[in-house]
Amino acid sequence: MTASRPARLIELPEVDSTNLHARRLIEAGETEPFSVRADVQLAGRGRLGRSWISPAGGVWLTVACPTARSPSESEPVPLLAALAAHATIEQLLPDAQRAELRIKWPNDILHAGRKLAGILCERVAKTGRAWTLVGIGRNADVDVESLGVTTRHPVSLRTLVERAQIDPSAIGHRLADALHGALAEFNAEGLPRGTMQALADRLAWIDQPVTLRRAGSAGGEPVITGTLAGVDARGRAVIRTDQGHKHVISGDLDEHTLRLEPAQQSDP
Ligand code: BTN
Repeated sequence: MTASRPARLIELPEVDSTNLHARRLIEAGETEPFSVRADVQLAGRGRLGRSWISPAGGVWLTVACPTARSPSESEPVPLLAALAAHATIEQLLPDAQRAELRIKWPNDILHAGRKLAGILCERVAKTGRAWTLVGIGRNADVDVESLGVTTRHPVSLRTLVERAQIDPSAIGHRLADALHGALAEFNAEGLPRGTMQALADRLAWIDQPVTLRRAGSAGGEPVITGTLAGVDARGRAVIRTDQGHKHVISGDLDEHTLRLEPAQQSDP
């Protein structure tokens, strides 16, 4: 990993969205890598245009890092972010809980199939200089009932570890360091060897039936239904279907649970 001094972490009691705040700082002339963490977000943003409810007790963090990588070279960034977040969260969990921690492609962190964290990666261009933003939302000391319907099947860290270990500021610092480290290494040296294997080893629902919906089709018919085969060398999800293997770059993956017709459900 590339050695570098820790980036500045700005901590705020309240903000609209840490990703939006980071954008504003970049627009205002920021030049060095930095992070923003807020206790509360009033207009948190999720993937695929969704909102992200962000009450007190969660970890709402954006890591911002200048990049010389092109948009297509940066395709694996969400996966690198998921791996860094997975490794950081894993360290907080008791041994018995660790095997349940998985990455839902492309970059949700699940525990026992329930969403513990989500990641929103964005790219900002400012006067010829591009920035990578990685926004991560972690349910830490949060009552999951307060998250409404924007997060499906959420779980909070407070049900998994002792309360003393879930200080949002301390976790924010650890996550920020891990994400800055991963981004700095990627910017300097490209994708670390073994990244895709590491991802495949931690992926949720491998060899299980899944559906993929694209942005805007949520609630509608699944775009692709098949079996999750893994990820390819570019980090695209590979879904085995009756029409062959589909390599997908974006979308919303979910478990595909077979619904049986009433006649099939009755016992003999
Ligand atoms: C998802 O849809 O799963 C991604 C959610 C990302 C939420 C985080 S919270 C910190 C940062 N600021 C935002 O407005 N969104 C991200």
